[in-house]
Amino acid sequence: MDLDQKDKGHKLFHTITFGCQMNLNDSERLAGQLRTIGYEATENIDQANVILINTCCVRESAEKKIYGKIGEMKRLKSVNPNLIIGVVGCMAQKDKDKIVKKFPHVSLVMGTHNTHQLVELIAQIETSGEKVVSVWEQAERLAPDVPTVHKSQISAWVPIMYGCNNFCTYCIVPYVRGRERSRPLENIIAEIQQLGAAGFKEITLLGQNVNSYGKDLDTQVDFSDLLQAADQIETIPRIRYMTSHPRDMNTKLIEIVKNSKRICEHFHLPVQSGSNSILEQMNRGYTTAYYRQLVTDIRKAIPGASITTDLIVGFPGETEEQFLETLEFIKSVRYDVAYTFLYSQRSGTPAAQYEGQLPLAVKKARLNQLMAVQNEISLEINEQLTGTVIEVLVEGASKKDEMKLMGRTRTNKIVLWEKTGTEKIGDLVNIQIDKAQTWVLKGRLL
Ligand code: SAH
Ligand code: SF4
Ligand code: F3S
Repeated sequence: MDLDQKDKGHKLFHTITFGCQMNLNDSERLAGQLRTIGYEATENIDQANVILINTCCVRESAEKKIYGKIGEMKRLKSVNPNLIIGVVGCMAQKDKDKIVKKFPHVSLVMGTHNTHQLVELIAQIETSGEKVVSVWEQAERLAPDVPTVHKSQISAWVPIMYGCNNFCTYCIVPYVRGRERSRPLENIIAEIQQLGAAGFKEITLLGQNVNSYGKDLDTQVDFSDLLQAADQIETIPRIRYMTSHPRDMNTKLIEIVKNSKRICEHFHLPVQSGSNSILEQMNRGYTTAYYRQLVTDIRKAIPGASITTDLIVGFPGETEEQFLETLEFIKSVRYDVAYTFLYSQRSGTPAAQYEGQLPLAVKKARLNQLMAVQNEISLEINEQLTGTVIEVLVEGASKKDEMKLMGRTRTNKIVLWEKTGTEKIGDLVNIQIDKAQTWVLKGRLL
């Protein structure tokens, strides 16, 4: 099909996306823009007229991988000199000069605040044949909405705000994504309504810190208002949001989730560390006692809720005792899932200058210890679900086994079962759980 498209003179594009949900969503919006000027997506990179690499720089490991990827593209450019290779997103925002200098085969460098200019910039390159670099230091108050091509037919991301004002001391995101900008409530609600009408079953409201939603708007709206408005949209059975900052999570929000019909009983609350002094050095703005209280409040209000987190090990100066505090903390909170990261020194962030940067070997050893403890907890929690029947949204075939289907529970757990032929993608089905693993539940359709 790709070959046919090319023969007919269609122009083809291929995107490669790294990083968080925000980036995945941006890639859908890049695709949406290219569609408007006649480009079709292709899975086959060798066929593409435009290749866009949407980048992440949150950790050095991601960056290394991406630099490798950009290097590989040189081969394609030498075969097809008209090929447009674009590097966009967070790393482009941070390292534009380095990218231009190091990779002559890259013809477009576009920053995070320029995403909506894609059509214009591609046209510019097509007519001039010259390289284009468009990286604004600062965002406009709010970039215009652009068309989107959704990857899934079932589940969609809806950005509600861009940027971050928190400046956690380890984190590069505020520098590459700029200050918080909220989309007007009406635009968000209209988008969700359209998604509902188009048959989507699940939406995820996206922002680096969704609890700050509305603070920068002239109108008096906050995240609670947005959630309650979204909950009224009857065509969408499941609403999710991420990421919420523990500091800004409160009983009012917990009550809204509890009393809502559609907001899923899943709380992703990145704690980062179980040591108060590390939390302070991270500028997280809460203590472990405060956080524990949140967890207690959530479990009291919504007993079946799942709670997940992010953790960083090896923050500068983290002592063995402080690491053990984190271990004890996760043992007592008992998270459904924890995403664990090695601290990565990001130049330009305050923590990069802190004394006591730890050797990689120490960080790795701590990470392994943490993962071993958490995996056991995740498994124990999942095992409690064997024998129960859970509502699952059918997402599609399992990646590993065509005969199996994959879906998620409202608590965001992955469920696999043998396809029976009666269930369709997008259906809400009841699955009897027979077997629990650390990352997945296995069952059968009732
Ligand atoms: N805004 C979200 C997500 C930010 S990035 C939040 O506040 O939760 C996702 C995760 O990456 C963070 O939660 C953190 O655990 C991790 N992270 C960010 N910067 C990092 C760094 N320099 N080194 C290691 N992990 C980091
Ligand atoms: Fe980074 Fe903190 Fe903002 Fe999350 S809240 S994006 S960790 S600065
Ligand atoms: Fe990475 Fe940018 Fe997201 S740095 S984590 S892609 S906001």
